[in-house]
Order: sequence, then C-alpha cells, then structure tokens
Amino acid sequence: MTTTAHAPLRVALLGGGTVGSQVARILTEDAAVLRDRVGAPLELAGIAVRTPDAPRDWQADPALYTTDAETLVDGADVVIELMGGIEPARTLIRRALEAGIAVVTGNKALLAQHGEELYDLASRTGAQLSFEAAVAGAIPILRPLRDSLAGDRVTRVMGIANGTTNFILDRMDTEGASFEDALAEAQRLGYAEADPSADVGGDDAAAKAAILATLAFGTSYTLDQVSVEGITGITAADNEAATEAGYAIKLLAIAERVTAEDGTAGAILRVHPTLVPRQHPLASVHGAFNAVFVEAENAGELMFYGPGAGGAPTASAVMGDTVAIAQRIVRGGPARLRTPVAALPALAPAEAHTSCLVVLRVADQPGVLRRVAAVFEDHGVSIETLRQVQGADGPGASLRVITHRARQRDLDAVVAALGALDVVHDVVSVLRVEGN
Ligand code: NDP
Ligand code: HSE
Repeated sequence: MTTTAHAPLRVALLGGGTVGSQVARILTEDAAVLRDRVGAPLELAGIAVRTPDAPRDWQADPALYTTDAETLVDGADVVIELMGGIEPARTLIRRALEAGIAVVTGNKALLAQHGEELYDLASRTGAQLSFEAAVAGAIPILRPLRDSLAGDRVTRVMGIANGTTNFILDRMDTEGASFEDALAEAQRLGYAEADPSADVGGDDAAAKAAILATLAFGTSYTLDQVSVEGITGITAADNEAATEAGYAIKLLAIAERVTAEDGTAGAILRVHPTLVPRQHPLASVHGAFNAVFVEAENAGELMFYGPGAGGAPTASAVMGDTVAIAQRIVRGGPARLRTPVAALPALAPAEAHTSCLVVLRVADQPGVLRRVAAVFEDHGVSIETLRQVQGADGPGASLRVITHRARQRDLDAVVAALGALDVVHDVVSVLRVEGN
C-alpha cells in the first residue's frame, strides 16, 4: 500500500445530477486508486444541489448534500462544476478562480458564452481551469487539440458532437422511430441537456464547435459566431431522399479555416444536418456516440471516437481533469498557461464551400430538366448527379440533384431561384453533403 504525506485535497462538487452523481461515485468507490495516482487523498467535501433529499442515480452520504454552494467553494482545493446553465455556475466558478482555486467543468454552454472572461480570470490568478468533459463526453479531444497538435496547423475539425441528436437520427434511420419517442429515450438515458431544445435546436453542438475552434485555431470564438441549424426540421421526406441517394443524415459541427472571396483568411463555424455517404466512417457512428475528425497540415487526418454523452462516460473525462489538476497541486509546478491567442476572424457562413442535395417536385413536362439545370449553371454551380424519381414527394416528378462543392452563397441563390421557377411546385428538401 502506498502511503502519502500530503494532506487530503478537498473536492467541492457543484451538481449531483446525471454526471455529478457518477463523479461522486468514482471519488468514493475509487478513493484508494485515486489517492495513489495523485499522491494525496481526494476528499469529497460536499455536493451542492437544489434539493438535497431528491433521489440520485448514485447516493452519496446524505450529510454531503447541501444548498450552500458558496461555503463549499470557499473551503475547496478543487471545484468541479456540473450544475449546467449560466447562473449560478458562472458566479461560483468566478468565486473559485478569484481565490486561486482550480476548477473543472463540463459546462459548454457557459464556456461558449463566457469562456474568454473565465480564461482571463484563471490566467490572472494562476488558477487551473479544465473542461475536457465539455466536448464529446468521454472522448479525449481537447487535450490533443491543445497539446498534441500544438506544433501543427489544424485546418478543419468536423464531427458528430451531440449524442442526443445522433441517438434520435440513428433511431429514426435504423428503426423508423418517431422523433418524440427517440428524444424521450435519450432523456431517460441521461444524454439530453436539462432543456433538450439546446440539443435538438443545435445550440449544444454549436457551443462545442466554438470550444473546438477556440483550441484548434488559437482564437476565442463564441456561440453567436456559429451558424446553427438543428434537427427539428428533418422530415420523413428528407430521410427517404437521403437513404435513396446512399446517405445518412447526421448533425455535424464543422470549424474550418477558409479564405473568403475577397482574400480574407478566417474561420467558418457551422452546425447543420448533413448528408454523409453511407460508407463514410461518420455514417457508422450510432446511438449517443460521437466522432470528431481533425485535419492538420502535417498530421493529416485524425479521428476521435467514443461515448459522447451519459453520466459515467462524462464523469471519466471530469475525473481525468481532476486527477491532472490534483497531481499538479501535490507535486507543484506552474499552472498551465492559456493557449497563445491568434486572430483568425469568424467569417460569414455564406463563404463556406459545400455540396448539396436538392429535392424538387416539378411539373412532369418537356423542357423542365433544361430549365432547372440552367438555374444551376447561371449561378456557377456544377451538378454532380441529377435523377428523376416518379411517384415520390407528391404529384408531378421528383428531381434529386447533387451538386459539386460550391460557395454557400451561390447554393442559397440557386435554391431561391428554383423556388421562383414556375415549373417547380415545391423545394422539398435542401441538405448539405460532406465527406463525399
Ligand atoms: P443534471 O440536470 O442531471 O444535474 C444538474 C445538477 O445540478 C443537479 O444535481 C441539480 O440539483 C444541480 N443544480 C442545478 N442548478 C442548481 C442551482 N441553482 N443550485 C444548486 N444546484 C443546482 O445535469 P447533467 O449532470 O446532465 O449535466 C451537468 C453539466 O454537465 C451540464 O453543464 C451539462 O451540459 C454537462 N454535460 C452533461 C453531459 C451528459 O451526458 N449529461 C455530457 C457532457 C457534459 P438537483 O439534483 O437538486 O436538481
Ligand atoms: N446533451 C449532450 C449531448 C451531452 O447529447 O451530447 C454531452 O455533451
């Protein structure tokens, strides 16, 4: 048995819900292993919650639950924030950092809106601030971006970063489940946010895109710089058209370096439902799993894959940060400095390059194909495939057009012009395609 001379480190846990209760379990059940790894016992000092006597996924000593989060923070060596939301999480994290107390958080919503303020405060006071759990659950992705790729130049990060929406889309695709049933199941399994509109509306993935881009490009990005489209508009017709064309629909978060038409170098951050070819690795990411592709100039293509949500997987990432911080407290050494700040401006999503599947319901008469094709040509958008499907998407003929990559601005103009064409009854679906 290893003996330790260092005094116990007091861990204040803010939140005892899906993730917090699993962190409490690990701190309790694995106390001996953690003590040996850290060189000092990690002592769970208390768990701040709203309702101390509410039932928990894992029940700690009832005496540990409290509603007095401030006192818990003030007496801690390490604060683990797993309450979620902006307040009181922001004020409590600020309180800890101002006092030089290390903080671990999984709160992507907070980081994507107020990250800069918190990183600055941590840099000023020398306190640690770690948040591996904030993106892609158990998958180690932030540390590789920040540390392992520090000598490379990341050009693109693209992935499935929200477990709830992947779970819903996967159930709809593979089992024909309804949106509502799949969402209820994701909530029951602890994948969804307290307000699941952040998941299905795309804001959760957008917050993660902002955090990923901040680390990948060394520039601070916020949620409002990400163009967001969630999965609530996905229809049975979209699914049918995607399947028929050989694609799966995935909600992708994409952050990429680009050069705008006027030569400005910048980054585009976007989240939207995307068609991914069935043979692409992202198409086989099922359930609440996440996968993040990173493209870097020298490393080439890297893919990170694993459980993206849920209590125990997320608690694993939280504990990784906690042990690393605790080891630094025990062994000494300087606090980790902020990633050097570059200045890669966020550009308008209209500057992005992508390809598109456009499904149109058109009049079944001579000359229609020529007029539709002319719209694409007029806007400089090249067609990769064009198929006519009889009897789908309502009366008339259904045209399914897949374009080559083009600027988003030109694709938007094509869709607007098609909608105004008298032979086009309906623009049934417009979905961007990646990975082809
Ligand atoms: P839950 O809603 O399950 O738990 C939240 C906990 O915080 C509850 O114990 C709640 O208390 C407590 N709490 C909330 N507000 C207050 C308040 N004002 N004062 C005191 N206590 C409060 O959330 P999760 O565990 O799912 O998520 C926690 C964080 O981790 C969020 O930031 C989330 O985005 C993030 N995260 C979650 C993942 C997941 O898969 N669930 C994955 C990755 C990150 P009470 O129990 O009494 O209501
Ligand atoms: N609600 C989030 C998701 C939790 O479904 O991915 C993990 O961040």
